Amino acid sequence: MELPKVVVRNGRKMLLVDGEPFILLSGELHNSSSSTTAYMEPIWERMAALHLNSLLFPVTWQQLEPVEGEFHFDLVDGLIAQARAHGMRIGLLWFGAWKNANCSYVPDWVKTDLERFPRAELEKGARYKEVAFGQLRMPYTTLSAFCAETTRADARAFAALCAHLRDADTERTVVLIQVENETGILGASRDHSDLADAAFAAPVPRELVEGLLARREGLVEDVRAALERRREGSWQEVFGEAADEVFMAWHTARHIEAVASAGKGEYPIPMYANCWLVQGGKPGMYPSGGPVYRVLEVYQVAAPSLDWLAPDIYVPEFCGTCARYAKQGNPLFIPETALHSGATARLIWAVGQCHALCFAPFGIDDIGSLMDASLGAGVGMDVSDERIRTRLDPREYARVNALLRGLTPLLAARYGTDDLQAVIAEEPDRNEMTFGDIRLRVQFGLPGGAEGLPSACLAARTGPREFCLLGVNCMPRFASLDPEKPYLEYLTIEEGEFAEGAWKLRRVLNGDDEYLRLREPTVLRLTVHPYA
Ligand code: DGJ
Repeated sequence: MELPKVVVRNGRKMLLVDGEPFILLSGELHNSSSSTTAYMEPIWERMAALHLNSLLFPVTWQQLEPVEGEFHFDLVDGLIAQARAHGMRIGLLWFGAWKNANCSYVPDWVKTDLERFPRAELEKGARYKEVAFGQLRMPYTTLSAFCAETTRADARAFAALCAHLRDADTERTVVLIQVENETGILGASRDHSDLADAAFAAPVPRELVEGLLARREGLVEDVRAALERRREGSWQEVFGEAADEVFMAWHTARHIEAVASAGKGEYPIPMYANCWLVQGGKPGMYPSGGPVYRVLEVYQVAAPSLDWLAPDIYVPEFCGTCARYAKQGNPLFIPETALHSGATARLIWAVGQCHALCFAPFGIDDIGSLMDASLGAGVGMDVSDERIRTRLDPREYARVNALLRGLTPLLAARYGTDDLQAVIAEEPDRNEMTFGDIRLRVQFGLPGGAEGLPSACLAARTGPREFCLLGVNCMPRFASLDPEKPYLEYLTIEEGEFAEGAWKLRRVLNGDDEYLRLREPTVLRLTVHPYA
């Protein structure tokens, strides 16, 4: 069967699965759920009922290679068989040398051999620290990114996994792989081991400087300004204040590149890296060296085997964060985001406005319950966000996924163009979309309806005067911008859904229903008529 692959369409990267555009309508499982097939048995059914087309979950180095050189593939094979039985695809997460900036998922033979696999030094000589997040204090240690032996061992295990998938996953159930999980170092802005110190004193690689200059448009201000001043010298000399983070990003990304390229050498399917976001504070308060927006271009230069870099979004500022990652040829792919009531509208908006390749609330196996803020506090979740005290409605979420699955060919054909746009109540001042001389204004919420319900609307232009909408809790209204034909009426309005490529009409709307009010997630097809 054809391998999943990344192609560029309309100037944007797009994922093809079985030769067709594929948007991962997905969710990420809790870290430990996929550690046995028995635990997963009842979960698949529930996830399929949400109309997800895929799930993201880890394969851990710890379980894959418990004894050096002995690989255990039974678990991953069992999970693939379960996914197939439920008609779902998988995005595997390689929990290798790094998981949330620490090394808890490496096998015992790596953890216990501190000579062969040295830890990062958070201060000279200190490979352990308690890291504080508000009131929480976390014990913390991590591997050093500067040890060639660690890179070699991680890459060898990952290559073994990929070679196995190539031979065993003949139906291509696994469509992509995340390489490591939220890399970087906490508790210090850089590693202070002897190996790291030597690398820090060495000249900045020419390849990096040239690569950054070629991407100068996208660089953050301080990195761009540093390169305007100086292009040769040590990391400190060239990058000044930003030196520690750029240095850690380069070396961490080089490790990831070694792992990803070893994997792709066996099995060239799409691969990416994810990050714990910058959340105020200095590097080290968030993982220094992970692919945060400040160093996206460093990663693009250092790790060409990665197809994109992905944000894990647990902050209230969802839309602005998406915009930071949908740039410089990087498509938006959200492998983790908060599981709360806002996710329904965010899914519609991320697909419609940012042309996202994936949307995956974290801990999807707990959908319908409140997010566990105590879990998230030490791993990058902004627990002050009021929304995490609201539940994501499984019925509503399932409906949006079902509708989006039917709409995928129509939407994907418009990715990278202005013919697909969306608005969301989280950006109340941006409530209009313009398609040539037709304007679509959206009122968020419904008169007399409850306050604060998720509200968003996407619109695809399907012909000069034809549109397809998907909205929830909103009132869309079209208008003409043509001065020659300033009035606008509807010709036809149909409510329904696409299934297996065909439009299934539910109702023809007119009369009272011409004043479009979308309470439940709803798809409409309509033709407008501007006149004078
Ligand atoms: C981000 C990590 O990538 C996940 O594995 C998980 O730890 C979540 N945080 C929990 O909020």
